[in-house]
Amino acid sequence: MIDEGRLSPQMGRLIDEAKAAALRVNRAGARAEGVALLAGDGAVFSGPAGADPDSPLSSAADAALASARDAGVTEIVAAAVAVADDPAETIYPSAEIRGCLAGIDPDLPVVVKKQGRWVLLLLSQLPPRPELKIVRVVRPDPRLLAVLEAYDLQAFGRAGLRTYDLAVLAEAGAVFAAYLGDDMVAGCQLLRMLEEPGFSYVVGFYVRPQWRGKGLGRAFLLAVADEMRKLDVEGLLLTVAPDNKPALSLYRSTGFTDEAFVPDFYGEGEDRHILRWRFDLEP
Ligand SMILES: CC(C)(COP(=O)(O)OP(=O)(O)OC[C@H]1O[C@@H](n2cnc3c(N)ncnc32)[C@H](O)[C@@H]1OP(=O)(O)O)[C@@H](O)C(=O)NCCC(=O)NCCS
Repeated sequence: MIDEGRLSPQMGRLIDEAKAAALRVNRAGARAEGVALLAGDGAVFSGPAGADPDSPLSSAADAALASARDAGVTEIVAAAVAVADDPAETIYPSAEIRGCLAGIDPDLPVVVKKQGRWVLLLLSQLPPRPELKIVRVVRPDPRLLAVLEAYDLQAFGRAGLRTYDLAVLAEAGAVFAAYLGDDMVAGCQLLRMLEEPGFSYVVGFYVRPQWRGKGLGRAFLLAVADEMRKLDVEGLLLTVAPDNKPALSLYRSTGFTDEAFVPDFYGEGEDRHILRWRFDLEP
């Protein structure tokens, strides 16, 4: 049983500490989870401890636990998990965080955001993280078009697609959206290439900022490739800016290989690598 009476005076502080810890996660663009632990004597310990560029995201609960242990704490009575700048209504702690907290106590009371409210649940009662669901967007209504435009703008700034472009791509190419539960977490648009009809050109591919660094980009890209295979597409072609290390790393480790480097591809100073993924070359 959760002793809400005992914990409620501490909940606000626990949530604030978890949020502050999430802001300390130092991986640009990544979805940053922070964890705060409440010790039996009322002390609060949070992780990650500081700005360590090499610290993996999964260390948030481990770091909080390590600092509690360093302080001689033997009893942890509750935890809070927060994500920096996340507008989602429900926050699902990652499997890594859950695993670490379960090591403390499989029934540890945990404060999480659920449907817009902070609630106290037992770790064992947390709903499973939903599967990534991919949807092909067909004839988007004006509201969805406006949402897709806003997400594209957020991901690509002035190079983002407008509602008009998105409507054309949904009609003449393919627009995919990825969902975790009710949250749209990623988007992608493709066109079949006139000169090489076997191949599709990836016009845009993004994971929304607060969901990055959690494996969703890779999962989404593989799901998009599966959908394209079903449409008898032989492979994908795309361009990447030379300084876009996360994207280059994702694409080169998925199946894409470098084909060319074109200076000024999208206009002056907009150099791009061209990468191609031939599905038939897969092992
Ligand atoms: C590129 C992008 C889609 C990656 O999405 P993501 O969900 O963060 O990626 P994942 O968590 O699935 O990580 C997949 C791989 O991407 C690379 N990656 C992700 N974040 C990274 C980072 N901050 N630094 C270096 N590589 C990174 C790694 O190779 C990673 O594999 P690993 O975890 O096995 O090391 C995302 O950063 C994004 O939307 N960026 C802005 C839009 C954009 O640039 N799109 C590409 C245009 S061509």
